[in-house]
Amino acid sequence: MIKTVFITGAGKGLGFSLAQKFLRAGTRVFAGHYQPSNELNDLAKSFPQTLTQIPLDVTNLDSVKYAAKLFSRSALHLDILINNAGVMLETRAPLLELDLSNHPLFETLDVNTFGPLRMVQQFLPLLEKGEHKLIINISSEAGSITNCWRESEFAYSMSKAALNMQSKILQNHLKPHGFKILAVHPGWMRTEMGGADADIHADEAAEGIFNLSMKKWNLDDTIYMDYNAQPINW
Ligand SMILES: NC(=O)c1ccc[n+]([C@@H]2O[C@H](COP(=O)([O-])OP(=O)(O)OC[C@H]3O[C@@H](n4cnc5c(N)ncnc54)[C@H](OP(=O)(O)O)[C@@H]3O)[C@@H](O)[C@H]2O)c1
Repeated sequence: MIKTVFITGAGKGLGFSLAQKFLRAGTRVFAGHYQPSNELNDLAKSFPQTLTQIPLDVTNLDSVKYAAKLFSRSALHLDILINNAGVMLETRAPLLELDLSNHPLFETLDVNTFGPLRMVQQFLPLLEKGEHKLIINISSEAGSITNCWRESEFAYSMSKAALNMQSKILQNHLKPHGFKILAVHPGWMRTEMGGADADIHADEAAEGIFNLSMKKWNLDDTIYMDYNAQPINW
């Protein structure tokens, strides 16, 4: 059984659905939240023993270090880290209309790409003590270079392609220690980011990602896939 999971960006959207799903399965959930979340506060009333809220800004190394410190006060090891926090800050403006002196690329990379790397670096000693040794990076189909159809959205797409590369490098680096890294496209979800016209509820993606977390993975298996375990071309 999975005993502990840390989820970043758990205050709303997919992160919140994942927190609910793991709590209902009896897992101890550490929910990183950027802004205070009323939904998480309500959830904590239903799971007072197993939900711990941890303030977290993944762009701030001190905040990530402090989150690891707070975690260590309550638990000795971490089974699964889910790097879910993400931003989509840009419009779909074409190239000639982009303001490249003030483009959201750096902020997007800071949250979507460097955020997960900061988390892995600071939580690695806790993950090494865990039995499950699983890191799930919430990526996107937008990070696939082979399948790319977009003609704009540079920042978001580049941040997820770089997250995919990060996932592969981490898999190479951590495989000798028994780690599995997944880069998962959660589907087009009806969240603040995905909008009201999207295909699925975040609970459906959370159900799929929970199932992925339960699978016995071969460390050489593909790592880039959707929430139904269908492989995606890099
Ligand atoms: N929605 C989709 O259709 C879709 C499709 C493909 C991939 N994804 C990916 O799925 C993940 C979840 O997306 P979502 O749709 O649930 O988005 P969302 O509803 O906008 O939620 C994003 C979460 O990330 C948090 N966050 C933002 N900046 C942060 C920071 N600096 N430090 C820590 N947390 C921060 C937010 O916190 P606050 O609420 O406090 O700001 C929020 O909890 C993202 O990685 C996204 O790229 C989404």
